[in-house]
Amino acid sequence: MRIFSLLGLSLIVIGLSGCANFPTRSRPIEIFDDMDRHEKYKAQTMYRGKGLFADDRSNRMPVVGTVAVGHLKADDAEYRGIVNGQYLGKLPVKIDAALLKNGQTKFNTYCSPCHDRTGSGQGVVAKRSLWLPTNLHEDRVVAMPDGEIYDVISNGRRTMHGYRFQVLEADRWAIVAYVRALQRSDRGTIEEVPAELRADLR
Ligand code: HEC
Repeated sequence: MRIFSLLGLSLIVIGLSGCANFPTRSRPIEIFDDMDRHEKYKAQTMYRGKGLFADDRSNRMPVVGTVAVGHLKADDAEYRGIVNGQYLGKLPVKIDAALLKNGQTKFNTYCSPCHDRTGSGQGVVAKRSLWLPTNLHEDRVVAMPDGEIYDVISNGRRTMHGYRFQVLEADRWAIVAYVRALQRSDRGTIEEVPAELRADLR
């Protein structure tokens, strides 16, 4: 008698503990299907011979030339840094402290691993490889129009990859402004530093 009640108890415990969910390759016994499967068309799927439309698709393709709201990016100056085939001389956004601060954050994140935080091209990647990031204080880079630096960030150049998928357009211009600030500080003289701050220079 005792053995039967023990057996009964263990069956109840097993039943209640949800052991029906142990991993198995066979399909579980299904009493009610709970609407697990039903006739429907899934989005962006081809249904050979029985699609919703004549081309077997369940959706229509967007009309050729469709642009999502806010993605037109028609302004060449703002989005490409190039106008009539010429690099834009000056950045098309207002330079203020907030822009430079953002540029500093983004430069330190995306550029400093190679170009280092001062822009001299001695970042950790450069130190540990034979790869030579450009020194951004070179006369050639200082003389570049703002639009050309924007273009290098967007599309890369020679061995440097572009960062257009990582860095938004507005942040690219902020980086350009910050690169200019770095270049300016690199060319600064001690006379330009207010006398009371000179002691802080290292
Ligand atoms: C993964 C490393 C790496 C990162 C990150 C990187 N660069 Fe470069 N960059 C290079 C290398 C390498 C070159 C030299 C390319 C060459 O001459 O082949 C270069 C060249 C340049 C040049 C000079 C292009 C020329 O015409 O000589 C500029 C300007 C520049 N980088 C800006 C940036 C800015 C701004 C960022 C951040 C958005 C950035 N780079 C991020 C590696 C990097």
